[in-house]
Amino acid sequence: MQVPLERIVFSGEEIASRVQELGAEITRDYLDEYGPEAEAVLVNVLKGGFVFLADLVRCLEFSVVIDFLAITSYAGDGASTGGVRIMKDLTESIYRRDVLVVEDIVDTGLTLSYILRNLSSRKPRSLKVCTFLDRLSSRIVPLQVDYRCFEVGEEFVVGYGLDYGQKWRNLGYVCTLRLEEHPRSDCP
Ligand code: PRP
Repeated sequence: MQVPLERIVFSGEEIASRVQELGAEITRDYLDEYGPEAEAVLVNVLKGGFVFLADLVRCLEFSVVIDFLAITSYAGDGASTGGVRIMKDLTESIYRRDVLVVEDIVDTGLTLSYILRNLSSRKPRSLKVCTFLDRLSSRIVPLQVDYRCFEVGEEFVVGYGLDYGQKWRNLGYVCTLRLEEHPRSDCP
């Protein structure tokens, strides 16, 4: 596998250390708020969030239940102009439970604002958001991100779950690519 790497933005070591720190913070908050019986339903948004989720859950020291949501954007050139629809729904009921949405990246915020509206209507006891990357400069919809690993700039990044044409999610670090050598049409 030859990665058309341009620049490493977050190394594997940086990520591991930050995820551990964030996991400890989340653990403290949930145990403080809900006591030793604390339990969160972690709602992971496919596909990009799966790597972060896998690392994060192993840094949480209270009871967690994992569930997955798959969504797709439509009617427009991506989530930034179109709508969002659920392709795979949760299997768990979240009624009166403490829900933590785990995302790989919050960009415009359109996807997450839809997800939060949808999940809120199921009346969870609490609903919080944890994202690996937060691209605050692209935000269109204001929303509260409770936990973030890193803020990221405008640059297009891949790795640690994030893709380009569905590729590069398996990289253990986050990087930019030399995209001129890999036009999107080359990445089915
Ligand atoms: C990414 C990410 C978020 C969304 C954020 O998903 O996982 O769900 O985009 O963008 P927004 O804040 O502008 O709405 P993507 O559509 O790339 O799908 P993927 O997770 O399968 O890669």
